[in-house]
Amino acid sequence: PPDISLTAVKAHLTQFQSIATANGGNRAHGRPGYLASANYVKGKLDAAGFTTTLQSFTYGGATGYNVIADWPGGDTNNTLMIGAHLDSVASGPGINDNGTGSAAILETALEVSRQSLAPTRHLRFAWWGAEELGLRGSQAYVNGLSSTERSRIKGYYNFDMVGSPNPGYFLYDGDNSDGVGSGPGPAGSAQLEATLQAYFSSIGVATRGTDFDGRSDYGPFIAVGIPAGGTFTGAEGTKTSAQATLWGGTAGQPFDPCYHRACDTITNVNDTALNRNSDAIAYAVWTTAVTTPPPPA
Ligand code: PHE
Ligand code: ZN
Ligand code: ZN
Ligand code: ZN
Repeated sequence: PPDISLTAVKAHLTQFQSIATANGGNRAHGRPGYLASANYVKGKLDAAGFTTTLQSFTYGGATGYNVIADWPGGDTNNTLMIGAHLDSVASGPGINDNGTGSAAILETALEVSRQSLAPTRHLRFAWWGAEELGLRGSQAYVNGLSSTERSRIKGYYNFDMVGSPNPGYFLYDGDNSDGVGSGPGPAGSAQLEATLQAYFSSIGVATRGTDFDGRSDYGPFIAVGIPAGGTFTGAEGTKTSAQATLWGGTAGQPFDPCYHRACDTITNVNDTALNRNSDAIAYAVWTTAVTTPPPPA
């Protein structure tokens, strides 16, 4: 798997910050900074040879958009999806939440193109609208799938907040091995978690499980039985002293003190966490889509 360029990921973050600054300080659903963000992402993907769709939906009297990007080729009956929400809250620019996940999966998609990757499985990337208002974009996407289309999606990786300034290294606990959240996810979620775990083990970074309760865009997927996984570096929760011993950073302080605030700007990012998570995403995409044989039908 490739090493994703932190510089390139941060260049996307700088663009998201500029878009927010030029549009009233946010990239929220129904505001001009959201559509500008969607057009930025779509433009990069179109230029890289993806087949893209701007899927619109209505929520709260405003039009929202998901950007869906298919990489041509691979077995569409064995599709792997990778997603991140692109909207911010109205109170800030949303650079860690979730410019980081959006930029990391964008750069991974662009690397798929640069390498002319020919995966066994079909790859579909998604940038969701209106997550902050209750997972509205991802829910609209899942609702819009026929049962056949749904059954073709064999796994979904979600990335929401992957550069928190006082980071933890969390994996959605799809196998419930840490006993957090509401139990194991759909069969197959354990494998997605194990793949991410293998990456962090390879770089010698400890991980811990985090709730697999639907508090981000994987929720609508697991609700219909699609296996899911993903990483997370922490939100408003407080880092414990045990976690500070494990990962460094500051005990007794939030993982992200600027969560949902105006200070969630370009400076609200831990580069090491963002770099590790970006590489974890590429590792997961390459190993899951290229080298894993399809499960028996
Ligand atoms: N979905 C939450 C938000 O955008 C953040 C979050 C992500 C919380 C993953 C828990 C797990 O505000
Ligand atoms: Zn988020
Ligand atoms: Zn949020
Ligand atoms: Zn687990």
